[in-house]
Amino acid sequence: MTAATEPSTVDGASTGPGVRISDLTVAYRTPAGELPAVSGINLELAPGSITGLVGESGSGKSTMALAMLNAVQQPGRITGGVIEIDGLGDVLSLSPKQIRAARGGSIGYVFQAAQNSLNPLKTVGKQLLDLGRSHGVEDKRALVRQAKELLSRMGLSGERVLDSYQHELSGGMRQRVGIMLALVLNAHVLVLDEPTTALDMISQANILSIIKDVHAEHGLTTLVVTHDIGVVAEVADRVAVMYGGRLVEQGPTVDVLRAPSHPYTRGLITAIPRLTGDPDVAQPLPGRPPTLGTIPRQGCVFRERCAVYAAGAREDCETVDPPAYDIGAERLVACHVVEEER
Ligand SMILES: Nc1ncnc2c1ncn2[C@@H]1O[C@H](COP(=O)(O)OP(=O)(O)O)[C@@H](O)[C@H]1O
Ligand SMILES: [Mg+2]
Repeated sequence: MTAATEPSTVDGASTGPGVRISDLTVAYRTPAGELPAVSGINLELAPGSITGLVGESGSGKSTMALAMLNAVQQPGRITGGVIEIDGLGDVLSLSPKQIRAARGGSIGYVFQAAQNSLNPLKTVGKQLLDLGRSHGVEDKRALVRQAKELLSRMGLSGERVLDSYQHELSGGMRQRVGIMLALVLNAHVLVLDEPTTALDMISQANILSIIKDVHAEHGLTTLVVTHDIGVVAEVADRVAVMYGGRLVEQGPTVDVLRAPSHPYTRGLITAIPRLTGDPDVAQPLPGRPPTLGTIPRQGCVFRERCAVYAAGAREDCETVDPPAYDIGAERLVACHVVEEER
């Protein structure tokens, strides 16, 4: 097996490692020059927690998830930052060999559109063996045993699934196969990008409860990336809200959902009937998220859609990029107005 991150032990139960992302910036080369898709992100994943990273499409979530595996592809480039995982060190300064071992080894990941990322020409079992080989696993029987056990915990017949091709599996089954492949090499950090998108409501609920179970049983530190704040409400202990490549708010999920602080978070919650509790109150957030070329270079990236800014323009919203203000109770909010009115 690969050199896996050793989980710390609390009362005999294992807890995933802590993850600290500091000042992470990722840019894409575009015809208009190199533009940041992720800017100065600071985020800590507490050992053993599930963090939900939420924001509309284009906010930079997948780019950030890829950066956690140092897997950003051209024309993208990580231009700065540190991603420190307990027991592994700074992901961004590992050697190519070490990072290949870490990906799918100590850091399990299921990328966006994982439902379609299996090789259509190989059975799941064959792909499992390929994964084992690429990570230098010698005991194939143990690998298959572990895969079957994971699949059976997720309510699937391991035997049958390992003999299947992608087209023989439903979307929900493929998503579970993705989770199995992410965890079979004993990962302690799990990154799931849009794990429920493209699934029907029942499969969504199913996958979310499976994620919670597997997270707890395996003692993981988990990041769930989603555009759906309802998914965050279901699974995450903590939430980080992303807009225009910035983290605009973070804190314990219960508190942030009960009393969102950033105008963007308020807008996201108001858009979801099942969170407002009253379908008549639900209101979509007006406007659209920016693209790389239209993210304001100066001041608050959200101001063009901000109800508070619209109600009375303030100069610092236009000129000063709001830092993550500490508003107590483990909450951070990047909004000048919220900070001033406190
Ligand atoms: N390969 C790429 N080349 C250029 N721009 C990209 C590329 N991939 C993503 N982007 C841009 O980076 C921004 C963030 O994208 P992404 O991380 O996929 O956001 P999300 O996952 O939140 O939808 C978007 O504006 C997107 O258009
Ligand atoms: Mg994405």
